[in-house]
Amino acid sequence: MSIKERVLVSRTIAVPADTNPWGDIFGGWILSLMDIAAGSIAARLAKGSIATKAISDVTFDTPIFVGDEVSVYAEVEKIGNTSMTLNIYVTIKRKGQDEELHAVKGKFVMVALNENRRPRPVREKWTDAEKANEVA
Ligand SMILES: CC(C)(COP(=O)(O)OP(=O)(O)OC[C@H]1O[C@@H](n2cnc3c(N)ncnc32)[C@H](O)[C@@H]1OP(=O)(O)O)[C@@H](O)C(=O)NCCC(=O)NCCS
Repeated sequence: MSIKERVLVSRTIAVPADTNPWGDIFGGWILSLMDIAAGSIAARLAKGSIATKAISDVTFDTPIFVGDEVSVYAEVEKIGNTSMTLNIYVTIKRKGQDEELHAVKGKFVMVALNENRRPRPVREKWTDAEKANEVA
């Protein structure tokens, strides 16, 4: 996979089970979708186990309602030694509408793990060609 482009990782519909006691979409559900997306891309990049180390700069910019189509995109900002920093973006389409609206964004730092669950170099399992092109 190329590591520079923004990729669609998941798409789902917000349903009543995803709401808080006031009937609004639960922010924790959105964070969970974002963490799963970051983990999915990070695990592919590292070719193995990863863990979420830090989440920052999360902003909920547009309310999400039951019936909205929710899409989660990932973009690799940086690959460090053992860490990967991903920007995760959530967009929505209101029921019956085509316009895709920005809703949420956040920064996720994921760490590649060895068999002892300790940090290990992200590129450890990359081929020389992958290292040369920064493509996993
Ligand atoms: C992930 C874990 C193995 C990392 O171990 P650690 O000893 O804290 O890691 P290190 O201090 O060696 O840092 C590892 C990398 O993360 C980066 N990092 C550490 N703390 C960071 C922070 N607060 N923000 C951003 N990056 C951070 C380091 O710079 C390093 O990156 P680099 O190698 O690319 O330079 C360990 O903290 C852990 O197991 N945490 C629990 C993970 C978890 O359960 N996540 C799910 C939450 S429910």
